[in-house]
Amino acid sequence: MVKARVAVLISGTGTNMAALLYAAKAADCPYEIVLVASNNPDAAGLKLAEAEGIATFAHPHKGLSREEHDGIMHDALIAAKIEFVALAGYMRILSPDFVGKWEGRMLNIHPSLLPKYKGLHTHERAIEAGDSHGGCSVHLVTAELDDGPILGQTPVAILTGDNADRLGARVLIAEHQLYSRVLADYVARERTPDFLVQQVRERALALPEADEVVSHGMPCFGIIKGKKFAYISLDHHGDGKIALLVKISGAEEQAMLIDMNPDRYYRPAYFGDGWIAIRLDLGENDWDGIANWLAKSWRSIAPRKLAAMMDLIGEF
Ligand code: GAR
Repeated sequence: MVKARVAVLISGTGTNMAALLYAAKAADCPYEIVLVASNNPDAAGLKLAEAEGIATFAHPHKGLSREEHDGIMHDALIAAKIEFVALAGYMRILSPDFVGKWEGRMLNIHPSLLPKYKGLHTHERAIEAGDSHGGCSVHLVTAELDDGPILGQTPVAILTGDNADRLGARVLIAEHQLYSRVLADYVARERTPDFLVQQVRERALALPEADEVVSHGMPCFGIIKGKKFAYISLDHHGDGKIALLVKISGAEEQAMLIDMNPDRYYRPAYFGDGWIAIRLDLGENDWDGIANWLAKSWRSIAPRKLAAMMDLIGEF
């Protein structure tokens, strides 16, 4: 299993970061923490991450505009080849540009049962309101503060005589359990065969007169009553890989692609020189690129009339 590369952004103690980090030590955890970054060079969590052998990055926000600081953090994330960002007590309001760049790939933990009590002093507010439970939520980050689709929540009972500190301490225990589980489920989702097949299916069936059949146990796509232009290899003979197979021009292109990126491309067994296998189970799939591969492959087998019709449509 290729693990998803996660960065954790912290501003303070970093106990959630630690929980994510230790959960990631399990062999079957689908993510690894490769970077811990902060706007506060003195954040205690940075020292812990360093001691655990994780790369750290800190850049104070003082004197910088929100956009400038977010830009510096973004560059650090890109340099570390990060796929997912986990905010864990990162006490910064993020610029819409930064949020946009990480849309669907940035999670946050918040110490309340959202949509209740966004912002600060969540435990006081829950106690004052006479709620039976406080709790915590993990959600995807959108432009609005503590908003965005909720991925998981844990309610925590409020006891008679509770104060914010006592409740907060129990909520923190719940946070540590919840965050790693939700993050693991979220990153694993994009590596499941069902998810990957569905992504390919949507793009393949968008091509003219395309249909789907099963061939030798593989989902495959062709032109109705015509030839096939794509196959999906799912753990073929137990090779542990999920890959899209598309047509290419021949041996030269095949060798060039494999040479260029031997992890991503390989020669599919039994298919010969006219096909290339593109791994989909490595994460970071370029789905527009996949759509282009499918279109190119479709074009190479489409009857001339149909391809010409496509050209005409393309001209308008
Ligand atoms: C956590 O309780 C987290 O939910 C909260 O900050 C604390 C950080 O603790 N986050 C927010 O309030 C974000 N709106 P930690 O540094 O020990 O993980």
